[in-house]
Amino acid sequence: MSGIAREAGALLMHYFRQHLKIEYKGDADLVTAADRAAEVLIRDRIREQWPTHDVLGEEQGLSDQGSDYRWYVDPLDGTTNFAHGYPMFCVSVGLEHKGRRIAAVIYDPTRDELFSAEHGRGAHLNDEWIHVSKTAALKECLLATGFPSHKRHKNPNIYFYHQITLHTHGVRRAGSAALDLCNVACGRFDGFWEFNLNPWDTAAGVLIVEEAGGKVTRFDGSPFELSSRETVASNGLIHDALLREFEDIFAGRGLEALPDPRLYER
Ligand code: IPD
Ligand code: CA
Ligand code: CA
Repeated sequence: MSGIAREAGALLMHYFRQHLKIEYKGDADLVTAADRAAEVLIRDRIREQWPTHDVLGEEQGLSDQGSDYRWYVDPLDGTTNFAHGYPMFCVSVGLEHKGRRIAAVIYDPTRDELFSAEHGRGAHLNDEWIHVSKTAALKECLLATGFPSHKRHKNPNIYFYHQITLHTHGVRRAGSAALDLCNVACGRFDGFWEFNLNPWDTAAGVLIVEEAGGKVTRFDGSPFELSSRETVASNGLIHDALLREFEDIFAGRGLEALPDPRLYER
């Protein structure tokens, strides 16, 4: 599994050095030849070794053979970054057995960082064990979020971004949900949330966070599922405080008004 992600990552780097034509799946939903080529490669490798397994990939959809095993493939997570030459993207591959996440690999070829996890066996970054951070106070946290390109006019997340930025050390929007989850797993971020992610964005990263000792739920604290349209991941210690922030924002409690830039100038 790691070998497949590394091979796909090398292919992405080959394309990254060229200036690829950007194509559009939606008004701001980009795709490139690299997304497609990496998915073809990953599917070929899975088929060679596990010909009966099902595969759900972002670019080609589901090939369903009725297997108990299902692979979730995001061949290039962070396509917008990739297409603009911003080196923050990865390959994400997760494996499920009878609906339970059992193995995951996320490879960042720009830093040669391979995150991996197996159910019940912990998580690694390259050869080192990784663990979530120990920060217990939300106001001392560095968090991450993202904004899907689909239906972006209807996305309420900018309010969450504003509010939570004011209550923490800050919120990063790095542009790769899979790497955001890995960065929670290894303690660089204390938490991450996003609306409307897809199973190929989360399948691998969620297992890596959980195996690194973190917690992943929906915004109301109920168990995360791949079909969930809400993802909140954290080190566990700040989880409840973060969920309370969401509750307040949804209820419109304590929202900071938009400051007046003229007052800020002074
Ligand atoms: C996107 C990235 C981004 C997140 C979007 C995803 P893609 O995946 O993970 O960080 O904010 O929601 O769709 O399209 O680059 O594979
Ligand atoms: Ca993605
Ligand atoms: Ca993708």
